[in-house]
Amino acid sequence: MPSFAGSLPPLTPRTMGTGGITDPSNPEHVAIARLAMDAGVWLHVADYGGGVYAVLKRAFADDPAHVPPCIVKIDGTSARGLRDSVEDCLRRTGLERIAVGQVCGYPLCAEPEALAEALGDLRARGVIGSYIMDVIPSYAAAVLHAAAARRFDGYIFYLNVMERALSDAAYARLVADGTPILAMRTFGGRDGANYLNNADHPRRAALEPLYQRAGCADRLEFCVRFPLSLPTVRTTIGSTGSPAHLRALLTANTAPLDADVAAGIEALHRQWNADR
Ligand SMILES: NC(=O)c1ccc[n+]([C@@H]2O[C@H](COP(=O)([O-])OP(=O)(O)OC[C@H]3O[C@@H](n4cnc5c(N)ncnc54)[C@H](OP(=O)(O)O)[C@@H]3O)[C@@H](O)[C@H]2O)c1
Repeated sequence: MPSFAGSLPPLTPRTMGTGGITDPSNPEHVAIARLAMDAGVWLHVADYGGGVYAVLKRAFADDPAHVPPCIVKIDGTSARGLRDSVEDCLRRTGLERIAVGQVCGYPLCAEPEALAEALGDLRARGVIGSYIMDVIPSYAAAVLHAAAARRFDGYIFYLNVMERALSDAAYARLVADGTPILAMRTFGGRDGANYLNNADHPRRAALEPLYQRAGCADRLEFCVRFPLSLPTVRTTIGSTGSPAHLRALLTANTAPLDADVAAGIEALHRQWNADR
């Protein structure tokens, strides 16, 4: 498989995830997409709930001059699946081009040569600009392998105050190589591990001394600034179904935290991963 490393364009420090705008019959969801377009941030796109593509199609049609670059989840388990998922996304969103393709299930692909050919062809035709690898914890060995071969332009996984969903060894390799990381779930996710909304979570309690030392205006700022403090993180990806929450995300300070605070959070990540 050829190397796709080295071509990730500059991203916006904050990316709006689309997990909160899943209902095309809700005008507020289209309005939230338009707010993000007006702000000029990148979007992270998958067809969550079967409705995101339709929400985006409306928002893009309303203001075609401000269609943002999109990071899109695409099928990496087979060449056919890849082509079908790309075609489906373009047709149902109205996007002409995918800025960054998030290759999902790559370690499960039984035909890596055919997949590589399809990835190369889509890039040569200008349909997709860059490729990043979708990473879950069980892919740590595959990340080490892909990083050594400089397979991808970057790697995307859950990385926020509440977790780092990648092994210490694989993460250290990416950082040592200066490889771009896209950090998902700014607020720790939509479930019980949400840092903002679950005041009783034990990880939030463990983070409390670091939050108090960080000198942030509020907890949202702490969530935004932490991933952007890490050396190779290029963006933090957060979502909301609320215009007010999106405005808060878009206006939060993005300056790196003090190094000792960021290091303290990273020490907790190592401890939590060791206890997994
Ligand atoms: N494998 C993958 O590719 C993958 C997996 C997971 C996520 N993602 C991407 O990452 C994005 C973000 O992940 P996520 O949605 O799971 O988690 P997240 O962004 O960490 O958390 C979203 C949750 O935080 C809440 N929230 C946001 N701003 C808030 C505020 N100011 N005050 C209180 N609550 C607030 C949201 O509620 P409200 O809606 O009420 O604001 C929502 O429940 C997704 O949309 C998706 O694009 C990708």
